[in-house]
Amino acid sequence: MKAKTILVTGSSGLIGSETVEHFDRQGHRVIGIDNNMRREFFGPAGDTLWNLERLKSSTRNFTHFSADIRDRAALEELFKSQRFDLIVHCAAQPSHDKARDIPILDFEVNALGTLNLLEATRQHCPEAVFFFMSTNKVYGDAPNEIPLKELPTRWDYARAEDFDGVREDCRIDRTLHSLFGASKAAADLVAQEYGRYFKMNVGIFRGGCLTGPSHSGVELHGFLSYLVKCTISGSKYSIFGYKGKQVRDNIHSHDVVRAIEEFAANPRPGEVYNMGGGRENSISMVEAIDRSEQLTGKKLNWCYVEEARKGDHICYISDLTKFKEHYPNWKITRSLDDILKEIIAAEASRTVASSSASR
Ligand SMILES: NC(=O)c1ccc[n+]([C@@H]2O[C@H](COP(=O)([O-])OP(=O)(O)OC[C@H]3O[C@@H](n4cnc5c(N)ncnc54)[C@H](O)[C@@H]3O)[C@@H](O)[C@H]2O)c1
Repeated sequence: MKAKTILVTGSSGLIGSETVEHFDRQGHRVIGIDNNMRREFFGPAGDTLWNLERLKSSTRNFTHFSADIRDRAALEELFKSQRFDLIVHCAAQPSHDKARDIPILDFEVNALGTLNLLEATRQHCPEAVFFFMSTNKVYGDAPNEIPLKELPTRWDYARAEDFDGVREDCRIDRTLHSLFGASKAAADLVAQEYGRYFKMNVGIFRGGCLTGPSHSGVELHGFLSYLVKCTISGSKYSIFGYKGKQVRDNIHSHDVVRAIEEFAANPRPGEVYNMGGGRENSISMVEAIDRSEQLTGKKLNWCYVEEARKGDHICYISDLTKFKEHYPNWKITRSLDDILKEIIAAEASRTVASSSASR
């Protein structure tokens, strides 16, 4: 196999770091860009430097640059000095709620940053595969129009035809997105255009809940990671509205990267796919609390806030049919319990490490 040169943006984040490790293990040359902006967005709990240090010691052929994807001159220099075969673009302001406080910064990072990378790719390596991590928030709250039924611990779709979840033909306009959903929708459309108009090998995932042990989970981003963190540390956790029965589908970062790998091997220019855990990995807030308590043996200190988060999904399950049809070698390999156990083990070891460091 010929070694490839791969650029990963947001390389210290959840999906970026999993991508770095995956391709490094295969002997490719991986270059990462991450300026630890997650710390700027979310404070010290969002700091990703621990993950960068972990990557530096676990990889063989990984180089990190603390560059900002908004910095066109820095990108130009990087793209001039390397010829990339694959670009996996994961850097983002990733929070639905945070964006309302920083609309301009959010748009600059999510929309303009993505355009900067697409254009640098077009100028310097137009035959490369470009993969963009979009979000299910591009559908805004349109998925809430699907008729629901209330079950004892979760909301669920009422009609048999909705059983598998939301498809890619859900409309993306005339809905309430949040500023984050709007900046990601702008990036999602422009990425599709580089595939369709310029015929570049661009692929797009509209993610459900992407999760795994390398998430620097915070209240505003990283559902399972933050929930486990609170269960283990005893910090207070708030549930916002919908009786705690809102449903999310969770996918392990490894399965996301495997899906990117499948697309990269056989790209379809401009295609958009929903990507999440699907029905088998769906769980409601109260079910997730219950399971996390069982697995950690600890009680979560949680409270209920009546008002739901603005534009929040009530029940969101990604319909994975289209991706599975296009890439039949791919499947979900980690169950919800596998994911929770891995997050719990990683969180517990980080808690032990930080308490012995502070002694
Ligand atoms: N995690 C989820 O549940 C989820 C769901 C749907 C979509 N997504 C999307 O998937 C992608 C990856 O998400 P994640 O969970 O790995 O996020 P993350 O926050 O863990 O990682 C993103 C990384 O990008 C870096 N970054 C931010 N702005 C930057 C900038 N201007 N220049 C360079 N680096 C910058 C951050 O420091 C961070 O390490 C994002 O585009 C996100 O919107 C995530």
